[in-house]
Amino acid sequence: MTLANGRTYLAIPGPSVVPDRVLNAMHAASSNIYEGALVDMMPDLIGDLKGVARTTKQAAIYIGNGHAMWEASLTNTIKPGDKVLALVGGAFGAGWAETARRLGADVQVLEFDNSVAIDMQRVGDMLAADTSGEIRAVLAVHVDTSGSVLNDIAGLRAVMDAAGHGALLMVDCIASLGCNRFEMDAWGVDVMVAASQKGLMLPPGLGFVFFNEKAETARARISQLSPYWDWSLRARPNVFYQYFAGTAPVQFLLGLREALDMIAEEGGIKAAWARHEKLAHAIWAACDIWARAGALRLHVPNAVHRSHSVTALYLSAPLATKLRVWCETKAGVTLGISLGMADADDPDWHGHFRIGHMGHVNAHMVLGMLGAIDAGLKAINAPHGSGALDAAAEVISKA
Ligand SMILES: Cc1ncc(COP(=O)(O)O)c(C=O)c1O
Repeated sequence: MTLANGRTYLAIPGPSVVPDRVLNAMHAASSNIYEGALVDMMPDLIGDLKGVARTTKQAAIYIGNGHAMWEASLTNTIKPGDKVLALVGGAFGAGWAETARRLGADVQVLEFDNSVAIDMQRVGDMLAADTSGEIRAVLAVHVDTSGSVLNDIAGLRAVMDAAGHGALLMVDCIASLGCNRFEMDAWGVDVMVAASQKGLMLPPGLGFVFFNEKAETARARISQLSPYWDWSLRARPNVFYQYFAGTAPVQFLLGLREALDMIAEEGGIKAAWARHEKLAHAIWAACDIWARAGALRLHVPNAVHRSHSVTALYLSAPLATKLRVWCETKAGVTLGISLGMADADDPDWHGHFRIGHMGHVNAHMVLGMLGAIDAGLKAINAPHGSGALDAAAEVISKA
């Protein structure tokens, strides 16, 4: 029999659960895009979006996904032949580096294991060795969703400053915006990319690039750039359609307005960060108990380096896949597949899975998801410690 009928929980690390409020807001007829309510709401919408990114600088909205934002950020700042330093600690760091390479940049890669954070010493050494300042940008991923590692962006800025290096600091916050603390201005981030489908609780389809004055100076060097990618008019439009280089994504904007209102009603972005942090700790507490039997372990050993939006786990192959299938078909909880740990045709691929806990997630969803995993571990006869739900409830009870 299956016990999956009822409200399901998509616990993959993006797209995340879209709240009914957002879905209802999007369920609207297209409106006038030349004047009226939609046009009038844009200044506040952009202001609130910048508030979530903790910046007073510029924001450009694109109709596109995260890959599109990698491209948008690079085409506005980097010319073919420019040197770029990519800090790669997982599949998404590698993806951004590859995008830069395909756009003609001379990409130097510093690679890190996908279970530990960026090694600042190595970054500092690399920048110090670049005495002529040829590296134009440093690319870093705040949370690499593949291994679920959280990187210290403020620490990275400090290392760049200590090396006296003038490269742009460009950060991918696609899996962290709205979930893990991120301070664009206070941490000295020059360019930040994000997308709609994770912490912002929308369907996939909108992308965002935030940039400061230093990035605008870099933009001024670029003489050839497609009008679609050019962020200049999108950030400071004279007329409404310039925000989007064409027809506005009407329903997405209504959804974004609702999502930003929900964050404000929760108590603002700091309250959303605190919720994600507490829920992440509850998940790890359960995992620590399951891990006592030796078959399961958290992929990132140091809790300081774990993201609050996604948790990658090892459960000896093929048990991870069996668990995912059981949870989805029997309990209505969809867990994330392994990404970047092994190839899909490698037997070890079946030894990894990920839990997404980003965006519209609360205590009962997390406790329900953990309960489903606990039942699944029993159903597939995976060795696991007892008392995981107690441990999670204990963390949550202290909220
Ligand atoms: C950290 C990170 N960067 C980039 C991407 C790529 O985004 P998209 O799949 O929307 O192109 C993802 C997607 O999961 C991601 O998690």
